[in-house]
This record gives sequence, structure tokens and C-alpha cells, in this order.
Amino acid sequence: MPTGQTVPVIIDCDTGVDDALALLFAVRHPGIDLRAVTCVAGNTDVDGVVRNTLTVLEIAGAGDVPVGRGAERPLIEPARSARHVHGADGMGDLGLPAPARLPADVDAVTLLRREILASPRPVTLVPTAPLTNIALLLRTHPEVTRNIERIVFMGGAVATGNATPVAEFNVWHDPEAAAVLLTAGVPITMYGLDVFERVVVPGPRVRRLRESAEPGARLAGALLSHRPATPAADGDDPGGGIGDAGAVCAVVDPAGITTRALPVEVSLAPGPARGQTVVDRRSRPGEAEIHEGTREQALVDVALDVDVDRFVRLWLDTVAG
Ligand code: BDR
Ligand code: CA
Repeated sequence: MPTGQTVPVIIDCDTGVDDALALLFAVRHPGIDLRAVTCVAGNTDVDGVVRNTLTVLEIAGAGDVPVGRGAERPLIEPARSARHVHGADGMGDLGLPAPARLPADVDAVTLLRREILASPRPVTLVPTAPLTNIALLLRTHPEVTRNIERIVFMGGAVATGNATPVAEFNVWHDPEAAAVLLTAGVPITMYGLDVFERVVVPGPRVRRLRESAEPGARLAGALLSHRPATPAADGDDPGGGIGDAGAVCAVVDPAGITTRALPVEVSLAPGPARGQTVVDRRSRPGEAEIHEGTREQALVDVALDVDVDRFVRLWLDTVAG
């Protein structure tokens, strides 16, 4: 991040407990100029995502950040929520108040185009959700890529899965859209499930957040408690993972992750590997390339490691002060 300059950021999310943790961080980090937030069906239905997003921005004390309602379902698949993880309302069923803010009077794709092209400096786009809005944007308004610095997306995995044994939820939910994103022709960082799952706030810190008098920090604590990691051995509170927020940490502190430029492809065929991100970590060509020739594949900066303590500290210092 250049010193003295804020990074123009747009988040495309499916709020979502951990999307909320990402929004709280983005609103409160002095190095981020949050220019818009767009919403897509994923963890819950898109209207629920819009409501949750507006509520979080309100509690976080965000300025006048426009929020756009986007796709109701993936390009081909039906919408398949993650309410069993994020609660019936997508926000851990915390009984949060309805927001007073209203969404923008334009749809997410229109808002994305407008805000990207209007930004005085190239925008960093941070999708923390299924990639439907982003694919629609890239196909409808390809000219936006001229003012995109980088796309840092939470999605995919090198060697694990959650929606299936090999597929991560955001890519699995709309694999075709993810395939469009990977060939966007702009620099891309993949903050995948392998690193996503490792950044956990320790139990005692979660408890302190829950007891905070400041509404944003208190909300962060309640949300983290909804995302328990493994139970603490000493019977103390389990910690909570910051999830999607790690991708936003990687925008302001890229040195906190170790990346390698690797070919990445989404498995689109029906069957058990659908939605898998196939990351090629081989150091030399294999028999497929030798006999059938090399295929053109997008190179993506894939996060292979994360400095957990550094991101936990960064996130806590920013959200709770
Ligand atoms: C991703 O899926 C969603 O449930 C989370 O918000 C995160 O973006 C993790 O696979
Ligand atoms: Ca998400």
C-alpha cells in the first residue's frame, strides 16, 4: 500500500457472518476508502444479504457507502444457501435491528461499473461471495478492467473443500462465474479456504469484544462467537475465525500472505469435482502437456500461507482499536 494514500476498495459480498467481519474491518481501516458494497445471493437470499449489509454498515458507523442489490441466483445453478452455517437470517440470528439505510437505486452491476470508472485511482475489488455479480459485470461492461488494480477474492482452495470434499462454497455456488473471473485479464489474488480457515481470534479476545461498550466491536464479538473454532483445551471460550475478513487484510497488508503465481482452473464438469479450483503446483510439465500440448491457463497469485498472528492483530487493532 503506498504510504499516505488510501486504497479505493469495493466489496462484493453475501453477508454472512464473516462478510460482516470483513465490512467492519474495511469501514474502520484508515488505509481503505470503501467506495461501494454490492450484494449477491450466497449465504442467504439476496434481499437478506442487502438487509444484513446495511445493518452492519450502520452499526460500524460507515459514511454514505452505496449498497447495490445484485444477482438472485447463480448463472446456471439454483441458489443454495449456507443458512445452516450463518443462521436463518444469515447473520447468526442475533436479532439485529432492521437498518434505517436504504440500498442504492441502481442494481449491483450498474453500481460496480459506475464506482469503478468514477474512482480517481484504480480500484481493488474484493469479492467475498459467489462470483455471479462479478461475471455479469465483466461480460456486460468489460471496459471496467481498465480501472481495476487487482481482484482479491475469497474463494477456491488449493487442497481442501467445504461445500464438497474438494470445492469451496463461493466457487461451488457458481462455478461458471468463477471461471469468468479467473480470465478477467487483471491481476488476481486467490485467498482460498486453506488460509481462510487458519485465521482465528483467540477465545479470551472474543469475550472481551463481546463485552465491549462500543457497538461495532460488540457486534464483532457476537459474530465471532457464532463461528467457533475448535473448543479451547482449558475450557475457555473457543476462538472465532475472521473468515472473509482475511481477504481484506491481504489488501492492506499483502506481506501477511505468501503467494505464488500459479495456473488455476475451475472444474465445470458435472460430478464430484464440480466447483473445484484446480491449482497447478507442479514444477515441470506432465505427460498431459508433453503428449497433448500446453493449454492456455490464467495465472493467479494463490495464497499458500498466512501469518496468522499478524492478521489477527491487524484485524483486532482495526475493529476494536
Ligand atoms: C465462504 O463461504 C461463505 O459461507 C463464507 O461467507 C465465505 O465467503 C467460505 O467458503
Ligand atoms: Ca462470504
